[in-house]
Amino acid sequence: MKNPPPPPSGSAPDLEGLVTCRAGLERVVADELRALGITVERTGRRAVFFRSDQAGVYRANMALRSAIAVLLPIRTFNARNYDMLYYQARKTNWHKLFPVDRTVRIDVNGGSDALTNTQYVTHRIKDGIVDTFRKLTGGTRPSIDKRDPDIHIVAHLDGRRVTLCLDTSGTPLFKRGYRAAHGLAPLKEDLAAGILRLAGWGGTVPLLDPLCGSGTFLFEGWMLAADIAPNLERRFAFESLFDYDPALHAAERDILAAARRNPPAGFRITGLENDGPTRAVAESIRRQHFPDAPVEITAADFRSWPGRAEGAFVVANPPYGHRLGDHAEAVALHHELARFVRHRCAGGTAAVFTANLEGAALLDDRPEATWTLYNGRLEGRLVKFAPGIGV
Ligand SMILES: C[S@@+](CC[C@H](N)C(=O)[O-])C[C@H]1O[C@@H](n2cnc3c(N)ncnc32)[C@H](O)[C@@H]1O
Repeated sequence: MKNPPPPPSGSAPDLEGLVTCRAGLERVVADELRALGITVERTGRRAVFFRSDQAGVYRANMALRSAIAVLLPIRTFNARNYDMLYYQARKTNWHKLFPVDRTVRIDVNGGSDALTNTQYVTHRIKDGIVDTFRKLTGGTRPSIDKRDPDIHIVAHLDGRRVTLCLDTSGTPLFKRGYRAAHGLAPLKEDLAAGILRLAGWGGTVPLLDPLCGSGTFLFEGWMLAADIAPNLERRFAFESLFDYDPALHAAERDILAAARRNPPAGFRITGLENDGPTRAVAESIRRQHFPDAPVEITAADFRSWPGRAEGAFVVANPPYGHRLGDHAEAVALHHELARFVRHRCAGGTAAVFTANLEGAALLDDRPEATWTLYNGRLEGRLVKFAPGIGV
């Protein structure tokens, strides 16, 4: 990849960057970028490379659903040892990118046979940043804040090749701000949105999650159906850069906000959940963050739910039997979920994501499509199938 110039000016017309995402969601992210008017150069593993202007970087941060971060490479160099790494970090014009009073965090990804100690890699890059500022300011330096930094630097190691990137997102994009901390095992928002996209839900037919937990599919589904950009109101690391253009940011926000649309009349999103405290979490998110959404969260065990959902798009993430309950019980639940879909949701489509591979195989003999996706480190399958005619 050719290096872009450092992005010191708000009017830079030709930024090259990359969007990081989970393995398996690259194609979805590429489609999302194109839909935002951003040129996709190529897809890699867990990354999609793009070309855009500053406005596009702001737009991508606010509107991408299935991505983790939007990175802008600052420079690429070779480093055979830690001194060379320091030398190159020291040579970087950090002082032209952000003010000295900003807090910084550095993360390392990829791998190198020469720079094997990632903590020391972080340390040497930090020294390079700090010394650049110290020299120019007569001693003042940015502080490190690992928890809530203003500036996030990512060092990508590819053998001896090191690319230093500015993470323009900062807090990962899946943190939309609607989820309070709780002890559940919810799907990450980017994965939920990516599953809906990958399985082809267009946001027009009703959505049903019969095991909705804290409601991630319901809320991501609503934002998708109504074209609500998921991170319109959030703070981003790009706001701490010298080239931040608040007027451009506001203009992009206004354009995205105006794109909101009303789903068809009668459109509904329904979640079933049999655990009271979990349902209360989903309900409180709904009330606090999505009060106007046509989302209904019902106290029900899907196996005895009296309703029907003909023609609906059924999406679910059943317990895997790893963390929540035991394996055999979870396998049986997958079997019952497949029955539920066949009997209650005729004429519709189902997309079930599970890391219980035995259960995944029970969902349908001839699924329309199957994808491998990861929930953290757990390898899972997304199985798409058409329930056929109800009985
Ligand atoms: C893996 S979690 C789903 C997490 C959800 N996707 C989220 O993001 O929060 C599975 C959920 O299914 C619920 N559940 C288990 N058996 C159920 C049943 N028979 N009927 C309805 N809900 C059930 C559990 O209480 C749990 O909240």
